[in-house]
Amino acid sequence: MAITTLATSLSALVLLASLVSAQSAVYGQCGGTGWTGPTTCVSGSVCTYSNPYYSQCLPGTASSGSSSSASSSTASSGATPTISGGLPGATGTGKLHTVAKAAGKTYFGSATDNPELTDSPYVAILSDNTMFGQITPGNSWKWDATEPSRGTFTFTAGDAILSLAQKNSQLLRGHNCVWYNQLPSWVTSGNFDAATLQSIITTHCSTIVGHYKGDTYSWDVVNEPFNDDGTWRTDVFYNTLNTSYVATALNAAKSADSATKLYINDYNIETAGAKSTAMQNLVKSLKSAGTPIDGVGVQGHLIVGEVSSMTSNLAAFTALGVEVAITELDIRMTLPATAALYAQQKTDYQTVISSCQAVAECIGVTIWDYTDKYSWVPATFSGQGGACPWDASLLKKPAFDGIVNGFQS
Ligand code: G3I
Repeated sequence: MAITTLATSLSALVLLASLVSAQSAVYGQCGGTGWTGPTTCVSGSVCTYSNPYYSQCLPGTASSGSSSSASSSTASSGATPTISGGLPGATGTGKLHTVAKAAGKTYFGSATDNPELTDSPYVAILSDNTMFGQITPGNSWKWDATEPSRGTFTFTAGDAILSLAQKNSQLLRGHNCVWYNQLPSWVTSGNFDAATLQSIITTHCSTIVGHYKGDTYSWDVVNEPFNDDGTWRTDVFYNTLNTSYVATALNAAKSADSATKLYINDYNIETAGAKSTAMQNLVKSLKSAGTPIDGVGVQGHLIVGEVSSMTSNLAAFTALGVEVAITELDIRMTLPATAALYAQQKTDYQTVISSCQAVAECIGVTIWDYTDKYSWVPATFSGQGGACPWDASLLKKPAFDGIVNGFQS
């Protein structure tokens, strides 16, 4: 009898242990396509659906049960799910590229970067081409990555982004040919005369645009040429060639791929002001000189609570005969995030998207990575972050709903 009791107790212990080990820890994965691990969470946390590829144990108590499939998503039919930090999440279940296309836009997209491509849950969301119909390489097509020494071009990392886009049937924005930042020292410290630097720009732009000939929707041929007061940025290109480097780069890109759309891209040109005026004047002068220019990229690195309508300013660009795109959208906040900041951020995302929606020639929107996990903001602005529509646990924030609302405005 005593032996039987002991055996029964041991069996119960083994069963209990297996049940415990079959539960994911707080913040652990608990579901998603291909997931073979635990689908329940340890006490005090709830399995919360994020997307078809990822559900996660988040602190809290179950109000709607575990949810490892879309059908039991807390993000469906208007219920407000709780995401990281106990904050409210998005309620929408739509797909952003699909919504943008239905609204008449060419794409909704995201920047990405090579180191992130080892993160399977991240890549799974990025690769959903109904969510993101376009991607931009965040770093690996830049000058320091593609021509680290003069005349020696490397495309291994850049081609990984191309392969991803091709695999997923996503459009690509090339980023970028000529920029003062992330230049190799052989360019900045070469003391080249004007003719030599002009030739260096032509070689660089024609080689990288030519390498991706036929693969891109558009290219940021010139990035950030102006200071915030509308004067020209005094970088190695302007200092050596004055403003002529812009036409040199555009002409080289055009000759390398006549079909891709050639953009000039900058920040703080979202609303009227000296910098936007300077960009408009540049477009006018390029047009009147017959230099190829197809679009203006409005980056959109914005601050929660400081966003206003961009419609009239976007229309001022398109009135010059170019298209516009929001190319690097993110809206940062001073941390810690709160429900009130998330609500304001939702409003601000909606304001930006509805501004683009109001202008027919605003052809698409790209967010500067979709998740706070890989945002550039915290490393650049101390104490700030939370700028993306997905949080660092890959869960959708209210900003997601603001984007959908903006396209449907
Ligand atoms: O590649 C080096 C690596 O070797 C080194 O170990 C590491 C250590 O910090 O740094 C790596 O370089 C970093 C690079 O990204 C690649 O990851 C730089 O430090 C870092 O400053 C750089 O930041 C990029 C930034 O441009 C540079 O200005 C961001 O990732 C990128 O998102 C950001 O993107 C820009 C757009 O191109 C233009 N508009 C503004 C936007 C945000 O700044």
